[in-house]
Amino acid sequence: MTNKPLPITGGEARAALDNAVAQVRLNLPLYTETCQNHSSVDGIYPPCPNEEWTCGFWPGEIWLAYEHTGDRAFRDAGLVLAASFDRRIREKIVVDHHDMGFLYTPACVAAYKLTGDRAARDAAVLAADQLLTRFQPKGQFLQAWGPMGEPGNYRFIIDCLLNLPLLYWASAETGDGKYADIANRHTAVCLANSFRPDGSTYHTFYMNPDGSPGSGRTCQGYRDDSFWARGQAWGVYGSILSWRYTKSPAALDAFRKALDFYLTRLPGDLVPCWDMLFQPDSGEPRDSSSAAIVACGLLEAVRVLPRREAGGYETLAREMVGSLARDYAPARPVPGAGLIAHGTYSKKSPYNTCTQEGVDEFTSWGDYFYMEALTRLCADWDPYW
Ligand code: GLY
Repeated sequence: MTNKPLPITGGEARAALDNAVAQVRLNLPLYTETCQNHSSVDGIYPPCPNEEWTCGFWPGEIWLAYEHTGDRAFRDAGLVLAASFDRRIREKIVVDHHDMGFLYTPACVAAYKLTGDRAARDAAVLAADQLLTRFQPKGQFLQAWGPMGEPGNYRFIIDCLLNLPLLYWASAETGDGKYADIANRHTAVCLANSFRPDGSTYHTFYMNPDGSPGSGRTCQGYRDDSFWARGQAWGVYGSILSWRYTKSPAALDAFRKALDFYLTRLPGDLVPCWDMLFQPDSGEPRDSSSAAIVACGLLEAVRVLPRREAGGYETLAREMVGSLARDYAPARPVPGAGLIAHGTYSKKSPYNTCTQEGVDEFTSWGDYFYMEALTRLCADWDPYW
């Protein structure tokens, strides 16, 4: 068992954020006219068209770099990408799924908040409208994937909690409560079903055709009853965001239990294996992105919970980010590389249904949330979510 990592200091966090910004700057020419793919291949991100569920994270990094430096090069590149997201939603290019929040919050809500760009704002509202089309009244949930109502796809996934801030933003921005209403309904169903009694989580949850709860199944975890690390991380960050928006006691309860469960399964360096069924001596790869996501959840809790409740959360987040900055962030920028190594997108097991991709690589959301965590530690940050 390794010693627990030391909390990252303010000076270390600023240096780590400077290093992250240097990598983003080096990558700007590679991924402004195209997007950056979800995960690297042998340590380098392939470019991709704006068609993946993950394309919002790279522009999110650009907006964080702009906030840190005020450099117009970042602003200009972020607006080029925002225009691409505007086209994507107007032309409905691969938007028949629930990931509108992962796409449009960091790419367009951030652009609008930081520059006032109206096209980015309007694109984000259209994306929120698109997300509403995924709502299933029978069961009261946002269907994650596939044709609406198809029996094999009659389910939601825990990741969706991060899509909901787009709906709350759209209600606040337009004055129309319909977006927040659907977000509240989905949240209630997700909190009641995705979180197991011990605080662990199901990746996906099927509803029955009559709208009653069905059963939990994995797609990207090792097996249905295991503990997919990133699902747990989405559960931690997603539930505290839900609490911020709903003040529902169930959301706070889910946050506390999901965090407690996560902490009991962490290895010494606070970076979990891709499924928390495993410890590092199993030889299974880590998922560094989970650590970055949970650190953001902890720092959000510090922002929104009373000091007496959130007291230890900042130290925990600093320990997690310290581990990432010292042992997972590359020492120097390389064209096409990312910010934290040893992420895992989807690892095939005998029991799951995913396609194997991005194992032990950089992941675009891992990079984004690492940068978000550093930004939260270095500034009084106004969240995009
Ligand atoms: N939202 C899919 C993933 O976390 O891989």
